[in-house]
Amino acid sequence: MLREALLAMSASDQARALIMATPLTRRVVARFVAGETADDALAVSARLIADGRLVTIDFLGEDTTDPDQAALVADEYVHLLGRLSAENLSSHGRAEVSVKPTAVGLGLADHGYKRALANIARIATAARNAGTTVTVDMEDNSRVEATLRLVSELRADFPDLGCVIQSYLRRSAADCRVLASAGSRVRLCKGAYRASEDVGLTSRAGVDRSYARCMRILLAGDGYPMLATHDPRLIRIAGTAAGLAGRAPDSFEYQMLYGIRPAEQARLAASGAKVRVYLPYGSDWYGYLVRRLAEKPANLALFVRALSSRH
Ligand code: FDA
Repeated sequence: MLREALLAMSASDQARALIMATPLTRRVVARFVAGETADDALAVSARLIADGRLVTIDFLGEDTTDPDQAALVADEYVHLLGRLSAENLSSHGRAEVSVKPTAVGLGLADHGYKRALANIARIATAARNAGTTVTVDMEDNSRVEATLRLVSELRADFPDLGCVIQSYLRRSAADCRVLASAGSRVRLCKGAYRASEDVGLTSRAGVDRSYARCMRILLAGDGYPMLATHDPRLIRIAGTAAGLAGRAPDSFEYQMLYGIRPAEQARLAASGAKVRVYLPYGSDWYGYLVRRLAEKPANLALFVRALSSRH
């Protein structure tokens, strides 16, 4: 119930205006977000990389309604990738970027698909020049078909363009079978959105079972699986399944969000596994923050404490 309410809130303009105007929210935001500028993202990336982690940087924003704004988002990524390269953080994919299709235009009424395609191609070109890759995030269910089509079309020119599969969708095992091929980079996550019961699984156990099934398909295939979860049970299953599939430690990676289970990130990295941290930055943090609150009620308590604190 609480999760449903929070996810509804993530799409509410009124709630967005109210919460973003509250200065004390920023303390909670700082736990999950690098900061507002590319400088902030670079500084945190350098620290994480020095600590043995990989990063994927997300410039916050989604559901762009203005074509110029969509182009500006792509400009920001191009600029960021240039700086990552200049600071020697992007070589060998140590820092890559994650892009939300609706931030670069997918939802625009006027040629949204074409604009998103062109903007992601521009970002992928900058990534290639910087010696790294792009992963295309997956948003709500209404965007899944178009996003997979975008990735498939762009992979003709950018074979290492990554995509995301969400285990809460009933279609996902079938999508994994299609995507578990050589050169394909697939991030598997549970999914941070809602969907009706005909397309989405609604029980936690069902979503977890689907995750384990998708994970086995990806690990048994020829692609590069990126296992994005903080769930201790699924991380244990991943270790066993990777061993059974004969996977070398550098042939797949774990991924976690910045600020969530950092000790587990460090433990996995110390064990020899590749661990990538999803690192968002920017001022448009509202939707991202509310989805993190929806995932864990304890975060809501942190948020309420920050709101009621005088400091
Ligand atoms: P689950 O939610 O069951 O959490 C397991 C445990 O992890 C919790 O018990 C807690 O200990 C810890 N935890 C999880 N979330 C927490 C939080 N917010 N705060 C504190 N602790 C928390 N989704 C999507 O729809 N599209 C996408 O493109 C992506 N991309 C993406 C990239 C990466 C690198 C990650 C890690 C995740 C995503 N996600 C995503 C989000 C994902 O779908 C999912 O919502 C979260 O990862 C939470 O799910 P878990 O698998 O961690 O399990």
